[in-house]
Amino acid sequence: MLGWSRVTLVLAAAAVTCASAQQAPPWTENCRKSTYPPSGPTYRGSVPWYTINLDLPPYKRWHELMADKAPALKIIVNSLKDLVTAFVPSGKIMQIVDQKLPGLLGNFPGPFEEEMKGIAAVTGIPLGEILTFNVFYEFFTICTSIITEDKEGHLLHGRNMDFGIFLGWNINNNTWVVTEQLKPLSVNLDFQRNNKTVFKASSFAGYVGMLTGFKPGLFSLTLNERFSINGGYLGVIEWILGKKDAMWIGFITRLVLENGTSYEEAKNTLIKTKILAPAYFILGGNKSGEGCVITRDRKQSLDVYELNPKQDRWYVVQTNYDRWKNPLFLDDRRTPAKMCLNQTTQENISFATMYDVLSTKPVLNKLTVFTTLMDVTKGQYETYLRDCPDPCIGW
Ligand SMILES: *[C@@H]1O[C@H](CO)[C@@H](O)[C@H](O)[C@H]1NC(C)=O
Ligand SMILES: *[C@@H]1O[C@H](CO)[C@@H](O)[C@H](O)[C@H]1NC(C)=O
Ligand SMILES: *[C@@H]1O[C@H](CO)[C@@H](O)[C@H](O)[C@H]1NC(C)=O
Ligand SMILES: *[C@@H]1O[C@H](CO)[C@@H](O)[C@H](O)[C@H]1NC(C)=O
Ligand SMILES: *[C@@H]1O[C@H](CO)[C@@H](O)[C@H](O)[C@H]1NC(C)=O
Ligand SMILES: *[C@@H]1O[C@H](CO)[C@@H](O)[C@H](O)[C@H]1NC(C)=O
Repeated sequence: MLGWSRVTLVLAAAAVTCASAQQAPPWTENCRKSTYPPSGPTYRGSVPWYTINLDLPPYKRWHELMADKAPALKIIVNSLKDLVTAFVPSGKIMQIVDQKLPGLLGNFPGPFEEEMKGIAAVTGIPLGEILTFNVFYEFFTICTSIITEDKEGHLLHGRNMDFGIFLGWNINNNTWVVTEQLKPLSVNLDFQRNNKTVFKASSFAGYVGMLTGFKPGLFSLTLNERFSINGGYLGVIEWILGKKDAMWIGFITRLVLENGTSYEEAKNTLIKTKILAPAYFILGGNKSGEGCVITRDRKQSLDVYELNPKQDRWYVVQTNYDRWKNPLFLDDRRTPAKMCLNQTTQENISFATMYDVLSTKPVLNKLTVFTTLMDVTKGQYETYLRDCPDPCIGW
């Protein structure tokens, strides 16, 4: 199932719109203006904050949050089960997930194993299903990430978290089932040691990896999925077969946010560590020029593309395609994002105008769960739930 993401993306695309081009109205629009502070039909609401105390044993860290979010997590886990059962009606797969998956996946390093066990215990959801919930972000995260630098050398980092492609469609209101179910699970997390913030992140309750976050004063990091023939499913198979020298991509992002000490060190780790699935890491620092997109294969880095303000490269944009290749014609969010950044100009980049770019269709689309804005030097961190009312493209 896992290697199919790209093929299925195309099929889902064709099925939903009979392949009308995403670049044509009404799927696209003029660059939005004055959308910030968020309001109106593209703004679903705020995202609640929770503190995760890293001084607690991993098993206990998530209890308070998960006690609140268990009902929402059960809904999404059940719809994933329904999906699996729709494909393989015997119920055998879920039996394997519940009974065999924990054994198959074996031990996870660091705090992850105990954290997931703690989440299973407090929610009453079988560990195998919690593991599945944690693994599936390795594969279906379709996003847009942007780092900008203004004329004063001040950096901003923004991202749309797009998730839930092809995992079912609500025909009553034209939305993705999983995308909608993730909105009530979306949380802002303040990870603390000694009552002090270590890093902040936006995530989905029940997931212990991280895909979006920052370390105030030091760096910001987002992860976007990268589709590749040599894809994540191979990494998972190797993992199951016992070759455990690679890291899960959401877990390395968490590790870097939790224990990274500088932009340079974070960059080095993200370039060098073997990972289970190909990915793009979008990393911003705390001073001029510190912003890059790292294009990763499972074993190595293929490209590190950096800000270069002296040569007028005052932003980097990453969606889900290698920058040296054209995006899939059905899914070009890169060109509109760049066009709107160009229109904004370096003089006028701010949280407000970054939010404008991230609110312009199809950068904003029906998969968008939330938009995050990060300012490392000022320590500002904001996340907003999104909607994309019709007419709006599915991805
Ligand atoms: C700068 O951005 C603000 C906020 O979106 C907008 O109101 C203003 O017109 C922009 N100024 C220029 C010169 O584009
Ligand atoms: C669409 O319908 C689903 C299922 O009824 C619901 O959960 C979701 O909140 C709705 N979304 C919007 C944007 O109306
Ligand atoms: C953190 O703060 C709480 C109350 O705000 C206090 O009870 C606790 O002892 C503090 N913990 C540490 C490690 O300082
Ligand atoms: C970060 O480092 C601490 C101390 O070495 C360790 O206990 C913890 O597991 C590390 N965090 C992660 C996510 O690996
Ligand atoms: C920027 O990050 C470096 C580490 O990479 C740190 O030494 C420095 O204090 C930070 N600067 C500010 C202004 O926080
Ligand atoms: C944005 O501006 C740059 C620099 O002028 C230019 O090379 C690029 O083609 C523009 N991109 C779009 C999508 O307008």
